[in-house]
Amino acid sequence: MSIHISAKKGEIAKVVLQPGDPLRAKYIAENFLEDAKLVSQTRGILYYTGLYKGKEISVGASGMGFPSIGIYSFELFTEYDVETIIRIGTCGAYTTDLKVYDLLNVENAASESTYAKFAWGIEEESISHQGNIFNTINETAKEMSLTAKATNIHSSDIFYRKDPAIPAIATKYNCPAVEMEAFGLFANAKHLGKNAATILTVSDIIPTHENISADQREKALKPMIELALEAGIKSL
Ligand code: HPA
Repeated sequence: MSIHISAKKGEIAKVVLQPGDPLRAKYIAENFLEDAKLVSQTRGILYYTGLYKGKEISVGASGMGFPSIGIYSFELFTEYDVETIIRIGTCGAYTTDLKVYDLLNVENAASESTYAKFAWGIEEESISHQGNIFNTINETAKEMSLTAKATNIHSSDIFYRKDPAIPAIATKYNCPAVEMEAFGLFANAKHLGKNAATILTVSDIIPTHENISADQREKALKPMIELALEAGIKSL
């Protein structure tokens, strides 16, 4: 048990898929894993461990934003000996160059957040994916005939804001889309010497307000889930 996860030691696999939403973790466990067991439900943040193609893998939620993914990823890495976390999430595109359903493999996450600086003394505004899992995802995407574009992402603390203009940091680091967790995950993994990647599905085109509707989401996220599972078991 850790402060925020009630699984026993040994009940979480070396590789964890981490969606933001606990119900997405449940959906993945129930539809993609065999023998999935619920190992933690503290605060409704569900964690499951099961088998994918005979290999043990866990899936559990990060919640939203750096404070939340900061807590869960830190406890997974330090208390459960997790080696690799693959965040799977959605993002909003700042540009119509991206289309809804596009898959992105995050190369660098840029943020205005002070999370990495005050947590670990990491001063950089942009932190890269950590370890080899990003490359494994690229290779696996090719094998699966999927396009997962290597992209920089703006990791923001803010969902609702007054000014609709693209934030300066997104322009500075060439980020065509925004989400709210990758920077926190990469900062923890960098500090701890662990592996971390983020795969995103574009769910919103911010300038046109086009989006994937709630009832299309489950189906829309299937390629991302399968890519993360296939790459995840390769890293074991
Ligand atoms: N902003 C931040 N995070 C997001 C968005 C967004 O527009 N869409 C999906 N995740």
